[in-house]
Amino acid sequence: MYTVRKVTDDLYWVGANEHRLALFENIHPLTKGVSYNSYLLLDKKTVLFDTVDWAVCRQFLENVEHVLAGRKLDYLVINHLEPDHAASIDEIMVRYPETILISNERAFMQMRQFGFNIDDRYIQIEEGDTFSFGDHVVTFVYAPMVHWPEAMVTFDTTNGVLFSADAFGSFNSLDGVLFADEIDFDRDWLDEARRYLTNIVGKYGPQIQALLGKAGPVLPAVKFICPLHGPVWRKDFGYIIEKYDKWSRYEPEVKGVLIIYASMYGNTESAAINLASKLREKGVKDVVVHDVSNTHVSWLISETFKYSHVVLASVTYNLGIYPLIHNYLQDMKALNLQKRTFAVIQNGTWAPKSGDLIREFLDKELKEITVLQDELTIISSLNEEKEADVDSLVDSIIESMKE
Ligand code: FEO
Repeated sequence: MYTVRKVTDDLYWVGANEHRLALFENIHPLTKGVSYNSYLLLDKKTVLFDTVDWAVCRQFLENVEHVLAGRKLDYLVINHLEPDHAASIDEIMVRYPETILISNERAFMQMRQFGFNIDDRYIQIEEGDTFSFGDHVVTFVYAPMVHWPEAMVTFDTTNGVLFSADAFGSFNSLDGVLFADEIDFDRDWLDEARRYLTNIVGKYGPQIQALLGKAGPVLPAVKFICPLHGPVWRKDFGYIIEKYDKWSRYEPEVKGVLIIYASMYGNTESAAINLASKLREKGVKDVVVHDVSNTHVSWLISETFKYSHVVLASVTYNLGIYPLIHNYLQDMKALNLQKRTFAVIQNGTWAPKSGDLIREFLDKELKEITVLQDELTIISSLNEEKEADVDSLVDSIIESMKE
């Protein structure tokens, strides 16, 4: 059965929701699914903007067929070629033999790499070109590395619809929702939007900044932002743009303390919670604690982008950093995390080394960070003799939060 929603009088959401996929990109856990958005414009010409993942192609085809209501599909605009959006291109081209693809040179090159059968049914555009579908005129803006090199956004200058590709997307299936103002986005979606952005495109902050800069002049004319995942924005643009601006500049959203611990038998955990308790006792309102062993690194990354201060508490394992903390550190590096203040707690029963190694990694591999000099070393378990060290670390963190 088709399920479509109207974005405007002549523009329809014809995407689909994915509930059965456990891991997005086969790496990031999905807890509430994800949507693959596609949009169909009924102008004098009919125009589809992007397709969907192969897993939901059947639903998508039903939606497209319903909205077309017997009309042929004239154009398919491809803004982004990652297969979660592009996998169904071939199927559309087979079912609608008169459809002409519209995209850029890099996208067509990638289509050939993926083995798509595009023949000569395509029009190659350049950045800044305009294209009329009848009443609607669109223009194309390249958005390289947001999130692949061929990525672009398409702006409909007639009705102010910005087809923003991966930008402004989010995890979570829509399940009947279309607009962000139909949900409590800040309460129910923001964490998944942050997890999506920071893990998928976090590395490319400068490129997101470049896109925001390019989009700046047209933003006053934007009336709808239609991303390829998650809800459509038709108001409160400032809210989501501010979030994207912060995330892509690697600026924390919250002045608070994120404590991540690795604990084999509960002793490092106990120290982490002792620290959290003392921070709260001294008035720090935002303190969160996560166990690296039962929190997927994609959530840890998202939280790390959120908070200003990060405490890493790790046992020493094979005379090194606990492997899951090491993996988390590697992800921070890969995703270009910057501008944070770190504190370190190390534990070891005969040769505590993890703290020194974490500190070395942070100093060497991350940019624009501060690592507090106060360091807590635990020998097997925290005891009263170390209480002064914990207090000193607490004071040092609080002092650094005043800056
Ligand atoms: Fe949702 Fe980069 O694809």
